[in-house]
Amino acid sequence: MAQIKIINVVGARPNFMKIAPLMKEYLRYPEISPILVHTGQHYDYQMSESFFKSLGIKNPDYNLEVGSGTHAQQFGKIIERLEPILLKEKPNLVLVVGDVNSTAACAITAKKMNIHVAHIESGLRSFDQEMPEEINRIITDHISDLLFVSEKSGIKNLKKEGISSKKTYFVGNVMIDTLINSLPQIEKSEILKKNNLENKRIVLTTIHRPSNVDSKEKLEKILEILNKIEKNSIIVFPMHPRTKKNIELFDLMEKFKSLKNLLILDPIEYLDLIKILKNSWLVITDSGGIQEEAAFLKIPTITIRKNTERPATITCGANIITGLNTKKIASQIKKISSKKYPKIKNIPLYDGKAAKRIVSIITKKYNA
Ligand code: UD1
Repeated sequence: MAQIKIINVVGARPNFMKIAPLMKEYLRYPEISPILVHTGQHYDYQMSESFFKSLGIKNPDYNLEVGSGTHAQQFGKIIERLEPILLKEKPNLVLVVGDVNSTAACAITAKKMNIHVAHIESGLRSFDQEMPEEINRIITDHISDLLFVSEKSGIKNLKKEGISSKKTYFVGNVMIDTLINSLPQIEKSEILKKNNLENKRIVLTTIHRPSNVDSKEKLEKILEILNKIEKNSIIVFPMHPRTKKNIELFDLMEKFKSLKNLLILDPIEYLDLIKILKNSWLVITDSGGIQEEAAFLKIPTITIRKNTERPATITCGANIITGLNTKKIASQIKKISSKKYPKIKNIPLYDGKAAKRIVSIITKKYNA
């Protein structure tokens, strides 16, 4: 049996939930030698290490320690620092997940060395190239050899872009694998108790996109939106470092803090976040992953973006796109609060088995 050496890449917070089920599944295959590379794009304990702990991911074999910086700086450092590792390890495959800078930078490095690339969460498109993630998705998909798609729209998008269907596999969503695997531990989380949230009406909000938090005007709009939420609800807002930095920069923290029903928290670890999400009646977010997790848990979601690359969350009835249109948001909040929305349906292949499908496809291809 030939050994299959796979270099797995993580870099930023949403990557950790996606790699966890794959690392676990590899253990069932003696022919696979997995190596884990962390680019270091995210480095704070709460943005990185806490996820390794709660998800039981092994320590990275390599850490590129690239840290924060401009897009060019992050890409440059990742490419330069990954190359010698690939030269030394000579993997059969470099596997990247999601759409962050680390994803595209590592895919480019590998492909330039004629190493095969597998992309998990392929085919998603917001059709908005002002989003850095959209550029990362397009670059990564077009140079990948194996494209693993999480929702049906991805298959259609890749076909339209001329990517051969021979390379494309509809396998489901690895992040939902992690959620399903973690449910027993999520139940045990004490986060509600710790923050006096038990039996409260909770609204979870997470906001970190540059398009929402990099301008004072947009942050003021967000404040206005949060103000529209009924006062008998507690708004739980785990604050991304980028959001916090900008709220402080624009001198708005006092205004946010003056909202009596707003609970601002530091970024929270995965199991605690899902515990809060599961117990919320409404989610207001601009995150990609939370749209999917909320849809799986059937929690109504208002996405304060102009678009989503995850249309399955809309067609299943969980998610609505509002941008920062305060009128539209206020009317949606009312509808959701009075439960005037159709039943939320299951999304195909959100079934906890995506990692199993992916690893089985990889072994068949590289063991042949
Ligand atoms: C990145 C991803 C985004 C993803 C998000 C999840 C890209 C282009 N964007 O955005 O798709 O949704 O991660 O969190 O890859 N910072 C810290 N500590 C950290 C990490 C970041 O304080 O551990 C601060 C720094 O000030 C940094 C800023 O957050 O400059 C932004 O970090 P960066 O990795 O550039 O992008 P994110 O906004 O986190």
